[in-house]
Amino acid sequence: MEIIRMTAAHTAKLAELETLCFSEPWSEKALSEEIDNPAAYFVTAVEGDTVLGYGGMHTVLGESYIDNIAVFPEYRGCGVGRAITQALIDRAKADDGLFITLEVRASNTPAIGLYAALGFETAGVRKRFYTDPEEDGLIMTLSFQR
Ligand SMILES: CC(C)(COP(=O)(O)OP(=O)(O)OC[C@H]1O[C@@H](n2cnc3c(N)ncnc32)[C@H](O)[C@@H]1OP(=O)(O)O)[C@@H](O)C(=O)NCCC(=O)NCCS
Repeated sequence: MEIIRMTAAHTAKLAELETLCFSEPWSEKALSEEIDNPAAYFVTAVEGDTVLGYGGMHTVLGESYIDNIAVFPEYRGCGVGRAITQALIDRAKADDGLFITLEVRASNTPAIGLYAALGFETAGVRKRFYTDPEEDGLIMTLSFQR
């Protein structure tokens, strides 16, 4: 498995993954727009030509915000999500990054487990942040030592 920069060759498959995972999925067009966005860093996990999953974030003035991380169900539980998240952390840390943060549904045990395993801590709760279904969002943050 390799983690590589997301390209136009991946976006159709990743839009399918978004639809599988989320009630407000990113479209192929929205994903494509991030390829050349200098503030964005989107990566794809691949095994040969097979797309396993992806993750993406935006960074402004050393503050990195993870938009999404997702792995196709058949490839979950084998370290793909961890590798994607670690790649985002490594990038966020570079160039004197301050922190990396995200929101996650309060009931999303696998994702909360993943972020906690990588050192993210719960920094707060956004009440009813999510819709369809309505749910609180946990803010999870990993601060980098200066
Ligand atoms: C969350 C998600 C990306 C995890 O991907 P994954 O490839 O299965 O995760 P990994 O195999 O790399 O697991 C890494 C760590 O995450 C945690 N984890 C993963 N699945 C878990 C589960 N079902 N329950 C609890 N912890 C879990 C564990 O700490 C695990 O480490 P370990 O294997 O040493 O125990 C995947 O479940 C997914 O795509 N879910 C749907 C989309 C989603 O909810 N994304 C997050 C939006 S904020």
